[in-house]
Amino acid sequence: MLQGRRVLLCVTGGVAAYKSAYLARRLVEAGATVRVEMTESALEFVGAQTFAAITGEHPFTALFAADLVSPHTELARWADLVIVAPATGATIGRVANGISEDLVSATIIATTVPVLLAPAMHTEMWEHPATERNLETLRGFGYHIIGPEIGALAGGDSGMGRVAEPEEIVVAAGDILGGEGKGQKVLVTAGGTREPVDPVRYLGNRSSGKMGHAIADAAIRRGYDVTLVTTADLPTHPAAKLIRVETAEEMLAAVAGVEPHVAIMAAAVADFRPKSAAESKIPRADGLPSIELTETPDILASVVQRHPRPFTVGFAAETGGVERAVEKARKKDVDLLVYNDVTEPGSGFGTDTNRVVLIDRSGDTEELPLLAKSEVAERLLDRVAAAIGEQG
Ligand SMILES: Cc1cc2nc3c(=O)[nH]c(=O)nc-3n(C[C@H](O)[C@H](O)[C@H](O)COP(=O)(O)O)c2cc1C
Repeated sequence: MLQGRRVLLCVTGGVAAYKSAYLARRLVEAGATVRVEMTESALEFVGAQTFAAITGEHPFTALFAADLVSPHTELARWADLVIVAPATGATIGRVANGISEDLVSATIIATTVPVLLAPAMHTEMWEHPATERNLETLRGFGYHIIGPEIGALAGGDSGMGRVAEPEEIVVAAGDILGGEGKGQKVLVTAGGTREPVDPVRYLGNRSSGKMGHAIADAAIRRGYDVTLVTTADLPTHPAAKLIRVETAEEMLAAVAGVEPHVAIMAAAVADFRPKSAAESKIPRADGLPSIELTETPDILASVVQRHPRPFTVGFAAETGGVERAVEKARKKDVDLLVYNDVTEPGSGFGTDTNRVVLIDRSGDTEELPLLAKSEVAERLLDRVAAAIGEQG
């Protein structure tokens, strides 16, 4: 969605300019290439160096004396999207009236790409008829306006006028630019389940959840509506609907509550669990306990048996050859199986890299080289998007 897109972030002179440093960071994290313009007043609130450190490029701060010959037109053409955050009453007024006397207003007036404005000002300024009229004009130009919201304002005041939150602006930016996942729900499961033996101990596995979380992240950036059911305590994209679980039973219940178009089942679900967990810790003094095991539910099967069934991706973390995984893909009746040999160096549990083979319904295999898990996630989503496209 924002991956690889060029976003020009224009920062104007309100206290909320400090939030735009975080906004710039979130845009970069979402995969956008970000350039920043700042008005003279914005520089009173936050330093250009902050944005330089976040985006890797010095902000443009003047129409003249910039590195570019004609910065407003060059930047206007460079961008896929212009975001103005915060947008002051002054800048809104200039643009609404075609006054291109500084870099930011000249760029906005010179651009033909979508413009997203996040106004921020004191309630009195927001409610002034001039502001209302100017915003009406900007809406008439087809500009997108986000916020403001009610909340704490500068100088200890509160009321309508607080800038929209950076996360909301990132989501709005993604919506404007669109993405292959728009309108599609994706379910991702991640991490290894933990099956309690007693209140202290559990039967678990080495899955870290990194692969599943990387997939959820990449899917969000492509515009999918993502639900992540995970056992892992890892950073999660704020736009993902997060459901934390521990056991296979809990994961099954969480999965049952989601109706996705695509299900990517990356979790390592225990095959067996203790038939019953002891209510208190089993004392060592009692000697070696024997633990009776029983089968856990087959969560993947519960998904592929649905009518209509989602496009389903299974994962096979194996120690055998790819032939076994091809057989597994057929048996499990998945649309795509991601196979990896966890004994290979740099591959599988806990690492930041993975070497996988993608196996489709006809048993055809695509071997990927050793890649960062984030890149494996991108390649996998490319395949999913292509397969869904073919299915129509
Ligand atoms: C402490 C302080 C806070 C301000 N906050 C805002 C604000 O939130 N919104 C706004 O429209 N103007 C605010 N202003 C006024 C603008 O800085 C002023 O109108 C300026 O000319 C805006 O210029 P620019 O749009 O080129 O950045 C503030 C001024 C000061 C001194």
